[in-house]
Amino acid sequence: MFHRPENRILVLKTLTERSMVGMEYFGSVLKAPEAEGREKHVPVIKALNKVKAGEVFQVAVVVGEATPHPNTLEHHIKWIQVYAKLEKGRVIHLGTFDLAPTFAEPKVTFDIKLNESALIYALEYCNIHGVWENSVSVTVE
Ligand SMILES: [Fe+2]
Repeated sequence: MFHRPENRILVLKTLTERSMVGMEYFGSVLKAPEAEGREKHVPVIKALNKVKAGEVFQVAVVVGEATPHPNTLEHHIKWIQVYAKLEKGRVIHLGTFDLAPTFAEPKVTFDIKLNESALIYALEYCNIHGVWENSVSVTVE
């Protein structure tokens, strides 16, 4: 099969297309606040901007605070993830919240503690409109 020139071209074309897809980073599909349209998808992160080292504080992430996002089987927020990028560069996965459509509202609150300043990132996934992100900085004194 590969001895025929037309089949070699087909195989090379397929490999090239796959490698082109593989070169695209997931970050390129993330939607930032600037991409917001009529519906509100950007996760709003609520946290103190200054905390004491090792002291527990609350982080809340809300999607659709100003304009509620639909919460139906056909259109809903499926999950919220929260990460911390510490000032020394390490990235910590703080939590994943898997939400049941129609039952669970896209609002999560949990407690964390930090020993160094960090950027807190929140991602959320809308089953229709994709993955959205936001971030806030928290300074540890
Ligand atoms: Fe949506």
